[in-house]
Amino acid sequence: MITKIIGTGSYLPSKRVTNEDLSKIVDTNDEWIVSRTGIKERRVVEQESVIELATKAGRQAIEQAGISLEEIDLILVATMSSDFALPNVASSVQACLKAVNAIAIDMNTACSGFIFALSVADSYIRAGIYRTVLIIGAETLSRIVDWNDRGTCILFGDGAGAVIAKASSQGRFEQVLYTDGSSGNCLAMKKEEKNHSFITMNGQKVFRFAVKKVPEVIEELLQQTKTKKEQIKYFLLHQANKRIIHAVSEKLSVPIERFPMNLQWYGNTSAASIPILLDEMNRKNLLERGDSIILSGFGGGLTWGSILLQW
Ligand code: ACO
Repeated sequence: MITKIIGTGSYLPSKRVTNEDLSKIVDTNDEWIVSRTGIKERRVVEQESVIELATKAGRQAIEQAGISLEEIDLILVATMSSDFALPNVASSVQACLKAVNAIAIDMNTACSGFIFALSVADSYIRAGIYRTVLIIGAETLSRIVDWNDRGTCILFGDGAGAVIAKASSQGRFEQVLYTDGSSGNCLAMKKEEKNHSFITMNGQKVFRFAVKKVPEVIEELLQQTKTKKEQIKYFLLHQANKRIIHAVSEKLSVPIERFPMNLQWYGNTSAASIPILLDEMNRKNLLERGDSIILSGFGGGLTWGSILLQW
């Protein structure tokens, strides 16, 4: 058996924060942010918890998949911004949804979170242990950024995306994943004064890491699966930065039109960015059954990886 995605969902909080809004908080401007990142605005939670975001996205995916709540065997929530360490987000989502037969696990591999969680779901499905998995990427990064640091606060946004993965006798699901813990310090959460933890980042190091490793891992995946780039309809990359996505498109010699983007509206939503994009494309009917697509995540850990799947 192999993983097939049979439903998608997403949820974005309604509050928009534009670059203009940010220029009133830190010394920055729209031109700098757009030219360096491509980001125009992002969504930010007011009262909502990451559990609420995750539950709303999950519910949409369940509705679209047309499955019953009792069918769900496993809930995986990829997040690095859970409201509490205990209970984990996934258990709270299980309770909110009343998915009483599901076990529930949180996974934190930062911006690669959705890719790693999808790969874990596929392993359970292949092993015949579980058949129906709800995978959610959900983040409230606005609660863990330092709003005084113009180098990071302009980048991130809040949101959630979800998919239902179901065991299928047909399809394709192949993956290549990596971790390099020795470089982990360039993207971290460190305790600052008053014991608050904020995201800290060496932006240039992360940029160089992404533009080197993402094309490499995609090439490796294509080689491993004996697939030509022309056979891939879309490359859905983690939505961190427009310049990173353009650099990957150039290195792979694949036209930028096959790298869909929505980061201009949501910023970098970490583990949520790929499933939000996937849901948007699905709801716009841009994906047809049988299409091959590549999903590619990269971020803290450092972690990175790509999945080739048949829609
Ligand atoms: N507005 C105006 N000026 C700024 C801002 C800002 N928001 N932030 C930094 N600057 C200034 C710096 O202070 C510096 O000024 P100086 O030359 O007087 O010292 C100048 O702009 C250049 O700063 P750099 O940090 O060198 O700018 P860079 O061109 O590297 O762009 C950026 C920064 C956008 C963060 C870039 O490094 C990047 O995209 N890195 C990738 C990181 C990323 O996407 N991280 C997301 C999380 S990780 C992930 O999802 C993989």
